[in-house]
Amino acid sequence: MRVDRFLSNLPQFNRQQVRLLLIEKRIQVDGQVIADPRHEIRAFSRIELDGQVLQAGKPARYFMLHKPPGCVSATRDPQHPTVLDLLDEPDKDELHIAGRLDFNTSGLMLITNDGHWSRHVTQPQTKMPKVYYVETEQAITADYVSKFAEGVYFAFEDLTTQPAELQLLGPCCARLSIVEGRYHQVKRMFGHFNNKVVRLHRESIGPLLLDSQLAPGEYRPLSEQEIQQFQPPRLCL
Ligand code: URA
Repeated sequence: MRVDRFLSNLPQFNRQQVRLLLIEKRIQVDGQVIADPRHEIRAFSRIELDGQVLQAGKPARYFMLHKPPGCVSATRDPQHPTVLDLLDEPDKDELHIAGRLDFNTSGLMLITNDGHWSRHVTQPQTKMPKVYYVETEQAITADYVSKFAEGVYFAFEDLTTQPAELQLLGPCCARLSIVEGRYHQVKRMFGHFNNKVVRLHRESIGPLLLDSQLAPGEYRPLSEQEIQQFQPPRLCL
């Protein structure tokens, strides 16, 4: 939300007063004086007028989870355990998943209450590589490498997937790096060759590798440095 809209929504100021407060440089957002009415603020921003807090800002929370197979990437499910059930954290309803995995897929999952951050991680424009370890029913041949690099046509969406990198590891196993996160993307790419994926595990997202200390079902908070690696550019209009 824009800072001028945030301030105008408060009962104590009208629009004219908000304009003046900004011109007079009396508003601080996260410790910085802000005069631009279009400056974007977030749920986590600390907003002050003459040093008096108008919004304290909620702490942002970021976790990495080793998702086990057999749980749903959703915040709620009537039948199955969800990834949020694995977290022992307060106010879990404020958290959401940055990049889902299928029921039987395991591996790195990011969970946060920061929508701006998770959008940056997941939106296709960011082209964040996601690396998967894949096992298949049939042998994977060199044809797959060139086809995936060229792109696979998905008729349902009428699109061709972005170039993906496939590294053959064995007759029926490979490592695949994709920059999108389309519905069942990896399974459908192998489906192009009528080859069923029997095991799928996400090893990394961008620069972040699944922590080898985390057993399936375990999680930990991200470090400050890990969070910063994904930080979207600041919205200063
Ligand atoms: N692609 C899939 O097909 N499934 C996943 O869980 C992730 C990527």
